[in-house]
Amino acid sequence: MSSSIIHKKSDDFYIENTKLLDVVAKYKTPLYIYSKKQILSQISDFSSSLDGLNSLICFAVKANSNIAILNLMAEQGLGFDIVSGGELKRVIAAKGDPKKVVFSGIGKSHDEIQLAIEKGILSFNIESQQELLKIQSIAQKLDKKAPISIRVNPNVDAKTHPYISTGLKDNKFGVAENEAIELYRQAKELSHIQIKGIDCHIGSQIIEIAPFTDSLKKLIHIYDQLNSLGIELEHIDIGGGIGIDYMDDNPPSFSDYAKAIKAVLGNRQIQIIFEPGRVIVGKAGILVTKIEYLKSGETKNFAIVDAAMNDLMRPSLYDAYHEIINLSPNNNINEDTYDVVGPVCETGDFLGKHRKLSIQTGDMLAVLDAGAYGMSMSSNYNSRPRACEVIVDDEHFYEIKSRETFDQLIANEKLIPQK
Ligand code: LLP
Repeated sequence: MSSSIIHKKSDDFYIENTKLLDVVAKYKTPLYIYSKKQILSQISDFSSSLDGLNSLICFAVKANSNIAILNLMAEQGLGFDIVSGGELKRVIAAKGDPKKVVFSGIGKSHDEIQLAIEKGILSFNIESQQELLKIQSIAQKLDKKAPISIRVNPNVDAKTHPYISTGLKDNKFGVAENEAIELYRQAKELSHIQIKGIDCHIGSQIIEIAPFTDSLKKLIHIYDQLNSLGIELEHIDIGGGIGIDYMDDNPPSFSDYAKAIKAVLGNRQIQIIFEPGRVIVGKAGILVTKIEYLKSGETKNFAIVDAAMNDLMRPSLYDAYHEIINLSPNNNINEDTYDVVGPVCETGDFLGKHRKLSIQTGDMLAVLDAGAYGMSMSSNYNSRPRACEVIVDDEHFYEIKSRETFDQLIANEKLIPQK
């Protein structure tokens, strides 16, 4: 097993001091289970690696947006990176502080901008000139100043999956380096805009340090130019993107990452904002699923489980690897090779391919490292109610989202009225 929150005591698998099959017996499957301790230790390891920096960690809500989990972050003093009004409302429901919220995303709507100004967020990460002007006009109507940073697209190759690479000039995010200065000049002239910082985010699941330092150098270059133009920034936001080890990925440690950032910053005292998502929660969650059927096709064996691409989309969408282990007692069953597939009517509906497993029908499988972009990307495709979520705290465990019901699925639907 790769580094995981799960450990084995005699024949049973545990997260912290909780036996997983006890949780499964109570809440059934598909079921997300998280470790509170793992989340807290990632937060504290990241924070301590940043010692000596004037920093703010803004957890990327999209990675895991359950309000209980966001509340853990808020209690540790974290801020949040949001990309929608819905995420802002989640942060507030989780007792997060809007004054520590940065708002990213290329398509902020009128209502979302208004809400964020009213709630007094820390900064809009502006992604285009039109957005800047829209924010100015909404702020003017509200008679408030809107705090902004400009998201620069540093044209750095994050060397990650093309779908989750965001800092290349072909990508839809941010503004080009050479346009940024001009946009700052314009922003400075706007009556209801307050310039706060500069921002970038180059992608996700990044396992090399160089793309981070290269983009920070580019931001600092712009920061220095702005300074000489009399535009002073209060922070540099270098986004998220630190990868985790799904399978021999060898991501940077917090301390190596922080050391490299500190070296580029030199003795600049400016506040640095980080927007980590995956690295905080990715390893903290598993998805447990029951084997409904085993079947041998003509060329391969299938383990058909009760979780599917609607519960965990990453394998289908990015061909992402998540380790899968059997939590049930193994009665000396012979190992065989299986594709672990869900019940959804798509060939692309799989959780793992070519996995060597000793399994039988009824066994409970754990899909590991599913705490980030698991539940938050789930859907109701095939009218499947979304899974239940539970968090373990030592020998206790708590339901933090109950399984969706059929009535909830159709609650907003209506029949066409009869004429
Ligand atoms: N900040 C911004 C502006 C972002 O767009 C993202 C992620 C983050 C921070 C957090 O990045 P992280 O630290 O989690 O890498 N669904 C994909 C990942 C998409 C990431 C989108 N942006 C996946 O499952 O791999």
